[in-house]
Amino acid sequence: MLDIDFGTYPFVTSSSPSAGGICTGLGIAPRVLGDLVGVVKAYTTRVGSGPFPTENLGKEGDLLRLQGQEFGTTTGRPRRCGWLDIVALKYCCQINGFSSLNLTKLDVLSDFPAIQLGVAYKTSDGTPIKSFPGDLRLLEQVKVEYEVLPGWNSDISNVRSYSELPKAARQYVERIEELVGVPIHYIGVRPGRDALIYK
Ligand SMILES: *[C@@H]1O[C@H](CO)[C@@H](O)[C@H](O)[C@H]1NC(C)=O
Repeated sequence: MLDIDFGTYPFVTSSSPSAGGICTGLGIAPRVLGDLVGVVKAYTTRVGSGPFPTENLGKEGDLLRLQGQEFGTTTGRPRRCGWLDIVALKYCCQINGFSSLNLTKLDVLSDFPAIQLGVAYKTSDGTPIKSFPGDLRLLEQVKVEYEVLPGWNSDISNVRSYSELPKAARQYVERIEELVGVPIHYIGVRPGRDALIYK
C-alpha cells in the first residue's frame, strides 16, 4: 500500500515497490518476467500515518508488535499492527498479478487463542463495499468485517513440512488462499532463510 501510484497516496513511498517497479526501476523487460511471488506477513503492519482499516489498537495489536518485533530497523519506531487485511491483499494481488504467495512470520500468531481475518469492508451505514476504495476518505472510514479462526497455541518454529503444522495453522493458511484466490507456496515460521515450509 506504499506504492506511489497504487498505494494510499499521499501516505506512500517515492517509488514503485509493486511488481511494475521490476521493469521501471531495475530495467528488466516485462517480457522476461515469469512467475511472481508476493511476500506477505501473516498479519498486517504499517509504518507511519495513513489509512489502516484492520489496525488493532488494543492488547492484540500490542502482542503482535511484541511477538513480531515490529519496531523500525533504523529508527526503533514501533510499527502499527493489526490482523491480516484480505481486502487489501486481494487488491495487491490484482495490481501485482502474483502467481503465488510467501506467507511470512506465521509463528508470530502462535500465542493467540483466536485469530481474525479482515474479510470485507462496509461503509459506516453498513453498505458493503465491493472493491478496494480508491477514495482515501472512504478508506479511512470503512468498518471491517472479521472472520474468527481458532488459534493453535503451540510452537511451530521448528516445523519444516506442511503436514506437520497444527490443523488450525493449516486452516488459517488455506482460508487465506481461498479468500484471496492465490496459492500460498512458502510459509515462514521463524527468522532465517531456512525457516521456510514449502507447500
Ligand atoms: C520468502 O520470504 C522470506 C522472508 O522474507 C525470504 O527469506 C525467502 O527468501 C522468501 N522466499 C521466496 C521463495 O520468496
